[in-house]
Amino acid sequence: GKVAVLLGGRSAEREISLKSGHAVLKALRSRGVDAHPFDPAEHAMEVLLHEAFDVAYISLHGRYGEDGTVQGALELMGLPYTGSGVLASALAMDKWRTKLLWQAAGVNSPRYVVLNAQSDFDEVIRILGLPLIVKPSREGSTIGLSKVNNEKDLFAAYQLAAKHDALVLAEEFVEGVELTVAILGETPLPLVRIEIAGELYDYEAKYFSDETRYFCPSGLPDEEARTIQSQALWAHKVLGCEGWGRVDLILDESGKSYFLEANTSPGMTNHSLVPMAAETAGISFEDLVIKILTLSYV
Ligand code: DAL
Ligand code: MG
Repeated sequence: GKVAVLLGGRSAEREISLKSGHAVLKALRSRGVDAHPFDPAEHAMEVLLHEAFDVAYISLHGRYGEDGTVQGALELMGLPYTGSGVLASALAMDKWRTKLLWQAAGVNSPRYVVLNAQSDFDEVIRILGLPLIVKPSREGSTIGLSKVNNEKDLFAAYQLAAKHDALVLAEEFVEGVELTVAILGETPLPLVRIEIAGELYDYEAKYFSDETRYFCPSGLPDEEARTIQSQALWAHKVLGCEGWGRVDLILDESGKSYFLEANTSPGMTNHSLVPMAAETAGISFEDLVIKILTLSYV
């Protein structure tokens, strides 16, 4: 069939999506798939029908693409698409509601407070301690996220996050090892451990730094890694995620996992973590892309 690779879009993660999408496009074409780029910022979704596409490969990140909106439009058009459906996409995009659901399902996540302009910021610091993390609930790639080390910086961090989303979270800072678990179908892939040079695994550290180091295999003992993989799979499933995804967490010194968020359309750039985990599992980038496609559309 004819595949539209949905990329770009209108989110703050547009640039990352263009990189992911072009990598996916190249992989599909290298396997002889009739694949074409489709930027939802440039064309109305109906064009997909007029141009007789059979399936949409979603390489969009963030709002209007990873959040259920595009998935809803595709459902209405009757066009199959890769990855999670409307509900899981919308839930996973919203870190606050993800936490509420995870709490009910026994998935441990950092303590948090929902912030607004009227919040008692001193009280927030009393509850969560310092440092703490402030982030927009519905954003990706750590855009709008700050680590607050001093009381006086909390309000500015709130204002920055509030530029990206009316819903802002303050979260306890968990000291530990940054890990991620890619999930392909029903199978968690090997853990990736991330070591950053600076203070935060932020946008710069993710996409530009040469000093960020990745370890896959993670170097954790097998049994501990297996436990984390099964927790991650549960965290993914309880949100209703399907096809593939990536769940991010921090492992503290005592061995406790703190799940941060689930990504329903994780990055597929050459710096990205799902392709790294797949490679360790013996799955090439091209095989990974084909697998994601066939999981949703056979
Ligand atoms: N939000 C970015 C693309 C990721 O999770 O990989
Ligand atoms: Mg994310």
